Amino acid sequence: MDDLIREAAQRLADGRLVAFPTETVYGLGADAENEAAIARIYAAKGRPSDHPVIVHVADGANLEYWASHVPVQARRLIDAFWPGPLTLILPRADRVPAAVAGGQDTIGLRCPSHPVAQDLLKAFSQLKGGNAGVAAPSANKFGQVSPTQADHVRAEFVELGDEELLVLEGGASEVGIESTIVDLSRLEEGVGPMILRPGHITADDLSRVLGTEPESLFGLKRQGADQQASENKTGAPRVSGSLKAHYAPRTPLFVLPQAEILQWVAQLPQDQLPIACVVFDAVENPVLPGVEWVLIDSDPKAYARKLYALLRQLDRGGYRRLVFEQPPSSAAWRAINDRLGRAAAAFSK
Ligand code: TXA
Ligand code: MG
Repeated sequence: MDDLIREAAQRLADGRLVAFPTETVYGLGADAENEAAIARIYAAKGRPSDHPVIVHVADGANLEYWASHVPVQARRLIDAFWPGPLTLILPRADRVPAAVAGGQDTIGLRCPSHPVAQDLLKAFSQLKGGNAGVAAPSANKFGQVSPTQADHVRAEFVELGDEELLVLEGGASEVGIESTIVDLSRLEEGVGPMILRPGHITADDLSRVLGTEPESLFGLKRQGADQQASENKTGAPRVSGSLKAHYAPRTPLFVLPQAEILQWVAQLPQDQLPIACVVFDAVENPVLPGVEWVLIDSDPKAYARKLYALLRQLDRGGYRRLVFEQPPSSAAWRAINDRLGRAAAAFSK
């Protein structure tokens, strides 16, 4: 086993923080059974402690250790999609500290496919003599853009030295946006399966395996119900990714249909330039002073892979505004529209 992985596992066992790559985004990890270590995650992120974090487990882990009940629907989804970018919300086993679940009686479980994440989870499980989990939110400050490269993590936590935070290197995350979250904790009450956060694994992917169409908290929101109302209606647990202003860069971001971009750009006052416009195709007569055109992929998976790195890069580019061309509204773009919509919502108040 790699020395660095061994050191990382030992640090987790000692209650310290380790950032690690996953196929979705990088995580800021701590021993899921150590409340003081979990408190360190919240402190480093500046995240309110009533927000639950996901527990990451090694491939083949005993889920009954974490969940009081693992319904057949969960087994099917696990067979189809684990290791991979899918988080399942299940009823929490009593032994699991409530702190990891932000005080809720549920637990979010995810088995990431990134080999470095798997190596770490296996080494940590060995060290703990069997069952072990790594609690890890995305390794960014609360409300900010998730990191998809080790450098992003270091930039996000410059105040933490090497002693306080070991960052494992794992290249650029393949998927690029956070896992799909499916709530299976309330099936006995007739609620769910429900998508709490859309991701790389789509509603169609889930339907094929479940044999039924999952409900969607996201869908309710999009129909205009405000967050509080929709959460009360569904009784869904609190999901910080469902806060409106999330995944936001510091530069104000707008999403506009292609037809409106040129017009919008042309009427901007001087003091709102320079701006960057992220579009699918090269525009005709693009030369406008103070306007930079950035081309992005029209394939949703490739788009997702690049989105957060691009947001970080543009955020450092000295622009006054960022404008993203509105992606198609089809199901394949759902997760991207969700993230862009939230990023833009941070500036629409
Ligand atoms: O792809 C991912 O899921 C990444 C990587 C690192 O695995 N993690 C991630 O974590 O996005 P975070 O904390 O940024 O988002 C996790 C979401 C939060 O919105 C949280 O509220 C929700 O999962 N969550 C976790 N446990 C939950 C629970 N027991 N009940 C309801 N929501 C939960
Ligand atoms: Mg996050």
